[in-house]
Amino acid sequence: MEKNNNFRKTVSWITILSWIFGVALFLIAIMLIYVKTMLPSVGEAPNMKVDINNARIERGKYLANHVMVCMECHATRDWALFSGPSIAGTEGKGGEVFDQKMGLPGKYIVPNITPFNIGTWTDGEIFRAITAGVSKDGRALFPIMPHPNYGHLDKHDIEAVIAYIKSLKPIKNELEKSSSDFPMNFIINTIPKKAEFKEIRLNQML
Ligand code: HEC
Repeated sequence: MEKNNNFRKTVSWITILSWIFGVALFLIAIMLIYVKTMLPSVGEAPNMKVDINNARIERGKYLANHVMVCMECHATRDWALFSGPSIAGTEGKGGEVFDQKMGLPGKYIVPNITPFNIGTWTDGEIFRAITAGVSKDGRALFPIMPHPNYGHLDKHDIEAVIAYIKSLKPIKNELEKSSSDFPMNFIINTIPKKAEFKEIRLNQML
């Protein structure tokens, strides 16, 4: 009799534990499906049109090459020279690789951002990629592309950079897409954030 009771107790514990385990697995599965299918959620690309003129292109060129350093990544670098400057004429070409050999959780290939690749993107889609980290097709961009920082810059400066990259000569360079290893292939979807621009007026800073 005693033996039978012990057996029953063990069985009920096993039932309870398997329920807890099952429910936990179910919740984890729901969470992973949510992260994979519902995120990143930064909203539609804004409906905007950047007015392109020479002054704006020049400002964008200065910002993209010397301040926001887009071309430190999105161009071919000459590593034979000190600090690997970008090679003139390759601006926007892409092709540099940041991968596991550098300790990164995936293989990130710097895309071509000349009109050859992004010529069909709207200004809003380029804006959203730079400031919120989401590609035209809704894919999250790994933050080695410093979109979390660019989302806090001056909106007009981003527009100048868009004018500049749209004026680049198209360079034919087909590239493989980046990929993240597990678990970054899930985590990456939680990273993009809608940019928040605040107007900073000089008199507020004084
Ligand atoms: C430190 C390197 C780095 C810098 C600096 C950088 N990017 Fe990127 N950029 C990347 C990488 C890497 C990707 C691809 C990330 C991925 O696929 O997960 C990317 C993606 C993009 C994309 C999306 C292209 C596509 O086909 O999906 C655009 C547009 C872009 N960058 C523009 C810019 C602009 C404009 C700047 C400067 C304001 C800039 N990037 C600065 C590395 C960089």
